[in-house]
Amino acid sequence: MIVGAQWGDEGKGKIVDLLAQHSDVVVRYQGGPNAGHTIVADGETYKFRHMPSGLLWGKECVLGAGCVIDPDVFIEELDDAESRGLDTSRVRVSGNAHVIMPWHVAIDGASERRLGRLQIGTTRRGIGPAYADKSSRLGIRVQDLFDQKILRQKIEVALAEKNLWLERIYGAEPLELEDVAGRAERWAPRLRSHIADASLLVHQALLDGQDVLFEGAQGTLLDLDHGTYPFVTSSNPLAAAAATGTGIGPNRIDQVVGVAKAYVTRVGEGPFPTEIEGPNQERVRDLGGEYGTVTGRTRRCGWLDLVALRYAARLNGFTSLALTKLDVLSDFDELPVCTRYRLPDGTETPDFPAHQSDFHHADPVYEVVDGWREPLDEVESAAGLPDAARRYVELVERELGVPVSLIGTGQERERALAR
Ligand code: IMP
Repeated sequence: MIVGAQWGDEGKGKIVDLLAQHSDVVVRYQGGPNAGHTIVADGETYKFRHMPSGLLWGKECVLGAGCVIDPDVFIEELDDAESRGLDTSRVRVSGNAHVIMPWHVAIDGASERRLGRLQIGTTRRGIGPAYADKSSRLGIRVQDLFDQKILRQKIEVALAEKNLWLERIYGAEPLELEDVAGRAERWAPRLRSHIADASLLVHQALLDGQDVLFEGAQGTLLDLDHGTYPFVTSSNPLAAAAATGTGIGPNRIDQVVGVAKAYVTRVGEGPFPTEIEGPNQERVRDLGGEYGTVTGRTRRCGWLDLVALRYAARLNGFTSLALTKLDVLSDFDELPVCTRYRLPDGTETPDFPAHQSDFHHADPVYEVVDGWREPLDEVESAAGLPDAARRYVELVERELGVPVSLIGTGQERERALAR
């Protein structure tokens, strides 16, 4: 199980890609096209939004019931992958996954515009509205696409209400029934061969002794229940959600690898205690290429936050950590690492505050460690890391009580050191 340990964009795609080669099945269990996984393989860059990263290895790729699917995006990705010579015949989608309909995308954008200064900073892909309809039991599921009569009926009922919202609440353009229904009717033929009972498929694979890799999207601090609410996504990226989002028992997950950057980034709004002030903000952003895969937005950059990472270790039960993009820090004489928060009442804590006001007003307490000031591109093994870089990794292990099993030192597939 691979899970983002921060606010997403930790470089999970690369770690999944690396581990997928030794797996038989790769499963996504939550989220939708708000995710953006970038993988550089054999000099080519692939950007996936829906597809599990195992696609590059021709593995069985599964999108579980906990995902929300935008069929237009999904079909475009299928077409693109095929045009680049990838075999998509083993891509499977649960019929229980919910469909992101055009009104979800329209409402996501309109709602953010209406919130103005108070906006969440969503990816505007319709994620929140689609999950909201799922919870309200008004959603359209992937399996509904295959019964044209039911589909049209559901669209008609939903659209009558959604158009009222769009027009009266948000002052936006309504959607045309024939446009939406026509578009939706074209999805079924392209999707038909990819629909599967994802729960049964994964269960059978496990019974057959196959290796199944779960690929979390977004990250721990964007979790709907345990993240920095309301600045979160509308699903549960946490490791435990892989069980419900796929339809297997939680005892089937035996290893949980948290993926964390050697620093921190966040897109969208919300509190961020270790956000860097001054010129180093831009320096880290440029060195790390911190611009969103999905929206192109600049990412906010911060120093490594071990309080938040300790929280992520607790919530997910990490059995090990993958620390990515260590090379980005090669340019600094000194590196602040946050080990405690100072709360408004003056006390210091190693634990993530349970109350939002404490978190919003927490000041980071830094331990400043030496940088290594040399590039890591030539380093071939973890033992070959400069001393200061090794000490940096060991500090993380000591503070969290979790071993670091992989270290990322560059974008390419090969630039990952196993420990
Ligand atoms: P939504 O998931 O589009 O509703 O956006 C909610 C919040 O999650 C926003 O702050 C987004 O920037 C953030 N978010 C969603 N998906 C990702 C991701 O894959 N990486 C990083 N942030 C994300």
